Amino acid sequence: MSDASASVPGTPYPCTLAHLSDVHFGRIADDRVVSALVDEVNAGGLDLVVVSGDLTQRARRREFRAARAMLDAFEPPVLVVPGNHDVRAWWHHPVDRLWRPSKRFRRFISDDTTPTVEVPGLAAFGLNSAHGWTIKGGRIRREHVREMEAFFAAQPAGAFRVLVVHHHLLRLDALGDHDVSRGARRALGAAQRSGVELVLCGHLHRSHVEPVELARPGGDGHRLVIASAGTATSNRGRGSNRGVNVYNWVEVGPDRFTVCERRFDPGAGRFHDARQTAFDREPA
Ligand SMILES: [Fe+2]
Ligand SMILES: [Fe+2]
Repeated sequence: MSDASASVPGTPYPCTLAHLSDVHFGRIADDRVVSALVDEVNAGGLDLVVVSGDLTQRARRREFRAARAMLDAFEPPVLVVPGNHDVRAWWHHPVDRLWRPSKRFRRFISDDTTPTVEVPGLAAFGLNSAHGWTIKGGRIRREHVREMEAFFAAQPAGAFRVLVVHHHLLRLDALGDHDVSRGARRALGAAQRSGVELVLCGHLHRSHVEPVELARPGGDGHRLVIASAGTATSNRGRGSNRGVNVYNWVEVGPDRFTVCERRFDPGAGRFHDARQTAFDREPA
């Protein structure tokens, strides 16, 4: 966690948020990891908790109930988007998969397909990339992108704009060969025009933070930061994150923001700082 937590006079900063992903109830790694996560989030005085999808392993009722209990235990506002594992598998329920793929997510978690949270100094928008007819790469609807642009256009000029989506919006070499959501180019262009400074995603179960410079037609480039969280609580970590539980702690000031990776230490039964990256802000 950053130690730059003193308030800045005349601003709403610092704003802080926790970004967790790929919780995967049904494949929880350690009995203590969920309660350790909830305890430290609630102790942190955060403005927002973001969950970027895959709350369950197989979209079972009991997994959604456990996810619901975790979300209810968080004291800050929570913004959640679904992941592909939260959509029912076609080989189990072909009719549901076709016509009501997100029925259980909507029932247990949220029926808001474009969730938003606004707090002073910070505005977050969630895009749903998990649909019934796609499994891995995801798909983003054109109308949701338009909603995102309208939402950010209504925010104050200096507000820290955050976009949340389960799947990735562009290919990052550091993460090897991986899927990119259909409709990602449109969503990323809209995020750039909207002055989004931070994209929070997951799906790959590998923690990675990378600034991305995007060209603006006829103007200067706009840099946004992609933070892909590993799995916060499950035993499904991949690559160098195999066996690792991790989430991101984001602290925003008027001129800079930091993304701090917090890893679970099974020996101590709690999370600790693992890696912190600081960025100058590029507000809209
Ligand atoms: Fe996942
Ligand atoms: Fe996923």
